[in-house]
Amino acid sequence: MGASFIRASVRAMDGYTPGEQPGVGERIVKLNTNENPFPPSPKVVEAIRQIEPELLRRYPHPLAEQFRAAAGRLLGVSPEMILCGNGSDDILTIATRCFVPPGGLLVAPEPTYSLYPTLAQLEEAKFVGVPWAQDYALPIDAIVRAKPSAVYLANPNAPTGTFVSPARIAELAERFRGLVLVDEAYVDFADENAAVLVNAYENIVVSRTLSKAYSLAGLRFGFCIAQPQVVEQMLKVKDSYNCDAVSIVAATAAIEDQEYARRTWDHVREERTRVSDELAHLGWAPLPSRANFILTSVPGGRGKEAYLGLKQQGILVRFFDQPGLRDKVRITIGTIQENNALLGAAKELQLVDKAA
Ligand SMILES: Cc1ncc(COP(=O)(O)O)c(C=O)c1O
Repeated sequence: MGASFIRASVRAMDGYTPGEQPGVGERIVKLNTNENPFPPSPKVVEAIRQIEPELLRRYPHPLAEQFRAAAGRLLGVSPEMILCGNGSDDILTIATRCFVPPGGLLVAPEPTYSLYPTLAQLEEAKFVGVPWAQDYALPIDAIVRAKPSAVYLANPNAPTGTFVSPARIAELAERFRGLVLVDEAYVDFADENAAVLVNAYENIVVSRTLSKAYSLAGLRFGFCIAQPQVVEQMLKVKDSYNCDAVSIVAATAAIEDQEYARRTWDHVREERTRVSDELAHLGWAPLPSRANFILTSVPGGRGKEAYLGLKQQGILVRFFDQPGLRDKVRITIGTIQENNALLGAAKELQLVDKAA
């Protein structure tokens, strides 16, 4: 359990378990942590090369002003509506500190991103997962009945890839006066987003990341959009210099090259359709996804067996050992070659039928 000088709430926590990260140079088709399969824009690499040592000697701008200005232009909002973070996990941590008091309640429709319960525990708050309604619809009544301090909604959701319309999110924000945090880590692979709702609803915060859509998971940069008076409060609880100087330069170059990023999103969408269709053809049952991954049940219903069988063939996907997910695996959409390797390996799997 750990030494008594460690906070009891920390000793009681399991902590978040990140997806497996193979060593550099390991030959594996890595489709387990939803990275973009393409490299970042060449303009990002060039911007990093051009960095002068003076930029590294000095502290970075505490609000990442250069990025805020560029993101404001792109999204049509004022820079005061943007808060930057060291990945969107940092944004989620800041939000939890700001909106979920000790003894408070954080609610999310479940299954969802497994970091949320950990964030609640860090604040000595409670987490309650409310089951999704039929076909992964937003369970608004059940959420409102739980009387939470805040609701976190991953949209598209992880690990299901399913999507809730901005109209339903607005309905939730109308009926519930606490914070509605819309975690849009994967939204660039969908067709709609909730950013415009921020103008009308003070209690909506929309978080984004450059990890997926801009191929920068290794850089660590995320941000959120909220009304200026909300951002002002969130700023009080962030680390002073939570974004480093290199990441600010690179993230700005990334969002300024929309043409490049959009080409990668188009590829992912096309391949998402192809991989889903082919898996369905093999008797797998993928959920319709708006993200850059697919959650699919496997023939015979033994997700772990499929995960291990694929791994043996050099393909890494994600298995979640939790109720409702044990018959499934989550597969990140890769390049055409990677997806072909996955489909080839899936055909080779000898999955034992549970009923047999
Ligand atoms: C739903 C969701 N939100 C947020 C994140 C965190 O992304 P990052 O901290 O890399 O921005 C992830 C990462 O997998 C995710 O799945």
